[in-house]
Amino acid sequence: MSAIDDEAAAERRAGHIRSFVLRQGRVSEAQRRFHEEGMPRWGIPYRPGALDLDAVFGRHAPRILEIGCGMGETTATIAAAHPQNDYLGIEVHTPGVGSLLKEIATRELSNLRVIQHDAVEVVRDMIAPGTLSGIHVFFPDPWPKKRQQKRRLIQPGFVKLLATRLAPNGYLHCATDWEEYAVQMLEVLSAEAQLTNMAKDFTPRPPYRPQTKFESRGLKLGHGVWDVVFRRKSF
Ligand SMILES: C[S@@+](CC[C@H](N)C(=O)[O-])C[C@H]1O[C@@H](n2cnc3c(N)ncnc32)[C@H](O)[C@@H]1O
Repeated sequence: MSAIDDEAAAERRAGHIRSFVLRQGRVSEAQRRFHEEGMPRWGIPYRPGALDLDAVFGRHAPRILEIGCGMGETTATIAAAHPQNDYLGIEVHTPGVGSLLKEIATRELSNLRVIQHDAVEVVRDMIAPGTLSGIHVFFPDPWPKKRQQKRRLIQPGFVKLLATRLAPNGYLHCATDWEEYAVQMLEVLSAEAQLTNMAKDFTPRPPYRPQTKFESRGLKLGHGVWDVVFRRKSF
C-alpha cells in the first residue's frame, strides 16, 4: 500500500477528514531517546473516557490545552512561565513529541503533559465539558490550496466542540500567518454562539504567547501574523 492509501484507510477508520498527514519524518537519536524515556512519565495514552486531570497533575489548577505543539518550545516556555497552570499538549508527529518531552525533562516541568494523537479525537473523547481555562491553537497547518482546505482545523464543527470544553469565561486563542485562514478563523469563531470576541476583530499578540517556530519561519517569508482570542460566554 502507498502512503496515500495508508492515509485514506486511516481517515476511513477515523470517520473524519484529518487535519494532518503523517509523514515519515526523520527522528533524531535524541528525540527517539527522550520519546522512549519520557512517554511513560509525561505521556498520556489516547483512550476514550474523560481524563481525571486532577489525578493526572496531582492537584487542582487552571488547565490549558495546546493543539499542535510542533517541536514544543513555545509550549514548554509558556508552561515554565506559568507554574500556577497545568498544560496539556497534543501533537501527532513523533519528532515533535520527542522534542517536547526533551523540554519537559531538561526544564523539569511538572505542569506539562503530552498526548500523541489526533486532537479532534482527544478533545471529543477525553476532555470533559466545561473543564478548560484556555485552548491554544498556534499556527495550525494553513492548508493553502483550495482542495486541501477541508483539512483546516478551525472549522465550525470543531470550534463548537472546543467551546463546549471551555469553562465559562475560558478562552480560545488561535493564531496564523496565513491571511485568508485568519479571516476564516475570525468568521468561524464569530459565528459560534457560545463564544464572544475579546476584541473588535484581531488582537495584538498577548504577552503570554512567545513567537513560535512556525511563526518565525512565516515572518522570514514576509508573512503577517494574526491572533484572535474569544471567551466562552457564561450565559
Ligand atoms: C504548522 S505546525 C505549528 C507548530 C507550532 N504550533 C508552531 O507554531 O511552531 C502545526 C502542527 O500541528 C500538528 N497537528 C495538525 N493537526 C493535528 C491534530 N489533529 N492533532 C494534533 N496535532 C496536529 C502538526 O503535526 C504540526 O506539528
